[in-house]
Amino acid sequence: MTDNNDYIIELKNVSKIFDDDTIAVDNFNFYVRKGEFVTFLGPSGCGKSTTLRMIAGFEFPTKGEIYLNGKDISNMPPNKRPINMVFQRYALFPHLDVFENVAFGLRLKKIPIQKFAKDGKPILKINKKKAKEINEEIKLTKKNKHLTKEEKEAKLEDLNSRLKVALTTLEPTYKYKKLSNEEISKKVARALKIVDLDSLEDRDVTTLSGGQQQRVAIARAIVNEPAILLLDEPLGALDLKMRKDMQLELKDMHEKLGITFIYVTHDQEEALTMSDTIVVMKDGVIQQIGKPKDIYDEPKNAFVADFIGESNIYNGTIISSSKVRFLDHNFNCVDKFPLNEKVDVVVRPEDVIFKEKDEGMINGVIISKIFKGVNYQYTVMVGKNEVIVKSTQDYPLNVEIGMNIYKDSIHIMKKDFTTNIYTDAWINKENKVMIDDMPFDVDITQLLKDSFVDEEGYLVSKDKKHRYDLNDADVVAEVSIEKVEIIDDLESKEVQAIGEIVDSVYKGDHYQLIVRTINEEDFVLTTPYTYNLNDKVGIHIKKEDIKLRLKKEISQYEN
Ligand SMILES: Nc1ncnc2c1ncn2[C@@H]1O[C@H](COP(=O)(O)OP(=O)(O)O)[C@@H](O)[C@H]1O
Ligand SMILES: [Mg+2]
Repeated sequence: MTDNNDYIIELKNVSKIFDDDTIAVDNFNFYVRKGEFVTFLGPSGCGKSTTLRMIAGFEFPTKGEIYLNGKDISNMPPNKRPINMVFQRYALFPHLDVFENVAFGLRLKKIPIQKFAKDGKPILKINKKKAKEINEEIKLTKKNKHLTKEEKEAKLEDLNSRLKVALTTLEPTYKYKKLSNEEISKKVARALKIVDLDSLEDRDVTTLSGGQQQRVAIARAIVNEPAILLLDEPLGALDLKMRKDMQLELKDMHEKLGITFIYVTHDQEEALTMSDTIVVMKDGVIQQIGKPKDIYDEPKNAFVADFIGESNIYNGTIISSSKVRFLDHNFNCVDKFPLNEKVDVVVRPEDVIFKEKDEGMINGVIISKIFKGVNYQYTVMVGKNEVIVKSTQDYPLNVEIGMNIYKDSIHIMKKDFTTNIYTDAWINKENKVMIDDMPFDVDITQLLKDSFVDEEGYLVSKDKKHRYDLNDADVVAEVSIEKVEIIDDLESKEVQAIGEIVDSVYKGDHYQLIVRTINEEDFVLTTPYTYNLNDKVGIHIKKEDIKLRLKKEISQYEN
């Protein structure tokens, strides 16, 4: 049980690991308040649908618990949960009209009515079904390979005590009755009114537009009066104009219904317009949870800043307690970071203020401008860095202009990455370092001061008294992200490893990319050139740019 009864859903340490070892959801902790509109936002494959499916009960967590109103429902089957789901691909029955599509579920539904004895006392019995369900869960828990011994023992103890309670507690009994036609009509009419389709109840669904069909799908979900409505990219199949309209309508429906909405999208603008709270995810890890404005104004890292709306992101250095250097200028700032710390600096395009040339903090040249309805979006070159600026003022191209960025608009974040660290590397018999099972040239004399390698390949100490055989030695290899080279020609003999680009963040004058190999090893690197996600590229690292550290004492390898 959890103590906060304001939380309708709570996830505690929830992970989902699929059979092929994909970690789709990695240790999620968050709650959803009653009546809230919460959105899971993140790129494709980050675990949004998997999380939603666990809340719905179509998937079960590998680890951790899901609570509904404080009760653990981690292994409760979906039909027992007061939850309904709307999918991107709405499966309507083409042979039924709008009314019957919405009524379909209700016609199958049976309503529990409590049983009473003749004397008016409720009839109570042991709930054998519940005991059976707990027994099933005990079996599953015993088989769960992903729990530690302690986790397993704690869970089994909890389940066994619940089983004991179930087997000794008398509960009310129910008989089940179908809804009458009249009850069904009333419920369907109400649902259709909410989705604004009350005039179309006799229409054949195949004659409806995409947006109208999606409304039927929503009506079908809300007609069951769920406490929670889950929506998995419900507007994904609609065109832009329709999507914008439906966004507003969904928000409206949320208010009218007063129930909890958990919404999934990869569209940041959609998330920002609709949600009370946004959960930003990446690679199965929660990056940030907050109100739209807080996430927009105070992104926690460069990924969130880049994903939520357009941003200028620069490499910066803290040069005093209240100054940060980027764009070759020392700016005042409010965030506190250690002196000389390398940081990511994020500036929103609307926070760069144009001034006359030489009257601002920095100068730049406008090289492009696009009219975006309410304002212009400019690209301004400051040295070799680009600055994106949004302004309602009309400025000419190719002229020098001044700019101010005030301290409250400068968001400083701890750098998320500067060095690739490979902890599973080892030295092969040719004295190369194996990273991701690929050999990289490396200088092994760095492992012992003033040492050299003899003709037979042994590492020899300066005084020639000690000889070391490093074949198979386990090492940690480190490569600065600036030192990983990207190679377009996969046939080139420079290529040491091949991978796919899985992430790209623009940082003012360069991109930071993640190249992932087939063995799931990541090389983070920087490049001034544009690449597309999923591009296949080669990796090269110069011999002198790989730093090595032995995992054991070097004396262990003495020959
Ligand atoms: N049934 C499954 N078996 C194995 N891997 C899965 C399964 N479902 C999803 N995945 C993987 O889990 C990750 C998260 O998927 P998903 O939750 O669908 O992401 P999203 O909805 O954010 O696009 C992906 O890597 C996906 O390939
Ligand atoms: Mg999905």
